[in-house]
Amino acid sequence: MSLSGAQTGNLGRIVLSAENVWKSYDDGAIAVLKGVSFEAIEGQTVALCGPSGCGKSTLLHLFGGLDSPDKGHVAVNGTEINRHCNLLRLLRHEVGFVFQLHNLIPDLTLEENCLIPTVAAGIDRRTAHARLQQLADRTGLTHRLDHRIQKLSGGERQRTALCRALMNKPKILLADEPTGSLDEGTSVLVFDLLLDVVATEGVTLVMATHDRGLAQRCDRLLEMHDGRIHESVYAR
Ligand SMILES: Nc1ncnc2c1ncn2[C@@H]1O[C@H](COP(=O)(O)OP(=O)(O)O)[C@@H](O)[C@H]1O
Ligand SMILES: [Mg+2]
Repeated sequence: MSLSGAQTGNLGRIVLSAENVWKSYDDGAIAVLKGVSFEAIEGQTVALCGPSGCGKSTLLHLFGGLDSPDKGHVAVNGTEINRHCNLLRLLRHEVGFVFQLHNLIPDLTLEENCLIPTVAAGIDRRTAHARLQQLADRTGLTHRLDHRIQKLSGGERQRTALCRALMNKPKILLADEPTGSLDEGTSVLVFDLLLDVVATEGVTLVMATHDRGLAQRCDRLLEMHDGRIHESVYAR
């Protein structure tokens, strides 16, 4: 399936799509996604809401190529993700991921953590350093570049994770409860930054969250339960 050039009226280009996606674990014993269909338009911010265990992380993992559906199609920038397509290219260039628990390497510095994906993508050192400087400026981390992750606060770690996810200039950011490990005040500050950076860079955001306050600040709010997306409303 190719959705290249797919348009939705004059709304914009579809950059992410799921078409009747099914996913279960343990040989079908745990049915999680039961026919999920969804499209995100370039530059949109989309919140994926729903109770714990409803399949938000599972869906994000499929979009990021970290797992594959049992049935149905998942496409990024018009190219279907499957075992045969270039998953490494997807992960290195097209999609950035921010996890609830940052997944940074604690013994390495902020700078070293952020440079890892650029090495994997073959980006030259000078370009990578310039990009890190730009992102660190935007997220207020310039003074922390040579600090080890274990010395940073929770908010600084999530901001670092945001920088790392955007180092290779992906057009899509998948965020799984990106502020879920933070207190309320820090959570709002980190989310402000996240929205600011994705707007500046024209990145499409799909974020799993159970925080309604944050979800309502996205362009769209999707409700997930019983393995499906039941409602898709424009929040703004
Ligand atoms: N690797 C796995 N093996 C078995 N069950 C899993 C696995 N990953 C998730 N699950 C189960 O799938 C369901 C959906 O999980 P998840 O996508 O993490 O939900 P959410 O992110 O909405 O909380 C849960 O019941 C969870 O226990
Ligand atoms: Mg989850």
